[in-house]
Amino acid sequence: DNSILTDTHGRHHNYLRISLSERCNLRCQYCMPPEGVPLSPTSNLLTNNEIMRLVTLFVKNGVDKVRLTGGEPLLRKDLVPLVHSISEELKKSNATSSNLVGITTNGISLSRHVHDLVDAGLTGVNISLDTLSSDRFQEITRRKGLDKVMRAIGDSISAFQNRYGHVRTGPNGTGGSRVKINCVVMKNFNDDELVDFVNMATDTFGGDVDIRFIEWMPFNDNAWSRSRFVSYQDMVDKITKGGLPIERIIDGPNDTTKWWQVPQKDSTRIGFITSMSEHFCSTCNRLRITADGKIKTCLFGSNEKEVSLKDIMRQSSSDDPRQQEDDLSRVIHAAVQRKTFALGGHGSADNIAKAADNRP
Ligand code: GTP
Ligand code: 5AD
Ligand code: SF4
Repeated sequence: DNSILTDTHGRHHNYLRISLSERCNLRCQYCMPPEGVPLSPTSNLLTNNEIMRLVTLFVKNGVDKVRLTGGEPLLRKDLVPLVHSISEELKKSNATSSNLVGITTNGISLSRHVHDLVDAGLTGVNISLDTLSSDRFQEITRRKGLDKVMRAIGDSISAFQNRYGHVRTGPNGTGGSRVKINCVVMKNFNDDELVDFVNMATDTFGGDVDIRFIEWMPFNDNAWSRSRFVSYQDMVDKITKGGLPIERIIDGPNDTTKWWQVPQKDSTRIGFITSMSEHFCSTCNRLRITADGKIKTCLFGSNEKEVSLKDIMRQSSSDDPRQQEDDLSRVIHAAVQRKTFALGGHGSADNIAKAADNRP
């Protein structure tokens, strides 16, 4: 395999995650300090045109799935036309997946946009929601908005049902839902709500939404602490001890999620993202573009050594698009070749945790 997107460990990268903005309209404690993160000037953000030049190049080299992230991707004003262009580009390729272009959002302003986004070609939404209590929501996000997020979940389900006849991607209502909830689990904050989340999926949303419980990962400023970490095993135990037996089902290829179902609850699907206790790096197919246009080959990796793809597009001495494409391809290939096998080269999740233990 001589694709520029295949790394030295034989992994082909067909899933591109593009961050559209560093800004967010929430201030989640596990993600940001109260004042927010330092923002680069808007002129440092990729434009839709630049994003499309990159998407076209990545698609040409085998990418068949794009996820738009942030910050909060819905803060980007020109999101609908961007989703449309990406969707058209992926359709031109030989992408066969039913989930081509997705967004990961906090859901606050999703109700207002979801129909237009689905019309434009959006095939899935992952909505971050960590608690079902509005007091806790305000505590964790430092903002109000639980009711908006709940409304967004229902509106998203309807939008996909209207467009595709069903919210699930498989035949006859089987398979994963196009609407997933991401719930980061933290001890003494929301680890008593796991059963409530499962009940909400069935009782409030008729089993049309899948819930993913996520192990909390240490990042730069996010106040991670070992004492508040809840492992995959602990989560499974909490759900079973809470009176809901669950059974393991089959995961998709390159899935970050270990999927289970709840037989008592119409086989509602729940999953666990086990980045810390059982990483899934050996099947990693993900590359990232940061909001300011750098390539990042691993979530836990650094992009500091990387050449900015934006700079190549803006500062190239050549106006020849083919020359620029060659330059971009060379830099992307080199970055992919430097990708470490796991966890950004930190060796183990415990090393990442130890570094976080020692932060001031
Ligand atoms: P699907 O395409 O729907 O499976 O979504 P996804 O899991 O790829 O993306 P999403 O943005 O919903 O992320 C869910 C969780 O998975 C977040 O906590 C991410 O930080 C984590 N995650 C996403 N990609 C990676 C990755 O490459 N490595 C690790 N370790 N975690 C990841
Ligand atoms: N650990 C795990 N997941 C996280 N997310 C944000 N910060 C962390 C973290 N430290 C989740 C968000 C969102 C997704 C993109 O990543 O909740 O759903
Ligand atoms: Fe891929 Fe890095 Fe995530 Fe592992 S930690 S799955 S290598 S992005």
